[in-house]
Amino acid sequence: MKNVVLIGFMGTGKTHTGRLLAKCLGRTFVDTDKKIEADNEMTISRMFAEHGEPYFRTKEKEAVAAVAASRDLVIATGGGVILNPDNVAALRATGVIIALTADVEIILERTGRRNTRPLLDTDEDERRQRIISLLAQRTSLYQNAADFMIDTGARSPQQVIDSIMAWLRQGGHIDG
Ligand code: S3P
Repeated sequence: MKNVVLIGFMGTGKTHTGRLLAKCLGRTFVDTDKKIEADNEMTISRMFAEHGEPYFRTKEKEAVAAVAASRDLVIATGGGVILNPDNVAALRATGVIIALTADVEIILERTGRRNTRPLLDTDEDERRQRIISLLAQRTSLYQNAADFMIDTGARSPQQVIDSIMAWLRQGGHIDG
């Protein structure tokens, strides 16, 4: 069966949703950010600080190509994965792509809890401005890449899972 791939901005719930969805589907869950960190024995924050964003994007492309070569996975991606059309093409070739969305205030709140995202590693006002400007650059890329989109802001994790499962069933992407 095709992979189920979650894309979306930082703080939209890709990792949490992905874990729950994998459990529900009885599949293996892979988070490309975690894979990059494991493969390179380095946190993403340190990679950005020591080598810069372009280096991280190269490593991200390698990780995406590796997971896209598998089947039957639930894959959570980093928020910037859609910046490279090669990533989207690779993920699409072996998977269905689901975009998670949330509005600025929700993203601001969720990304404020942990300080592990180099692109948002700043105070709250500056962080809001960065989120607004990155969303302006990326929203159409998420929309164009997605087969299905769901707003996680006003929904519980279980409601998000229920909607995704219903969509997967309707499209014949899973049995039952
Ligand atoms: C990034 C999102 C992060 C991580 C890196 C860059 C981005 O992943 O890949 O910090 O460009 O949006 P999450 O979306 O899981 O936070």
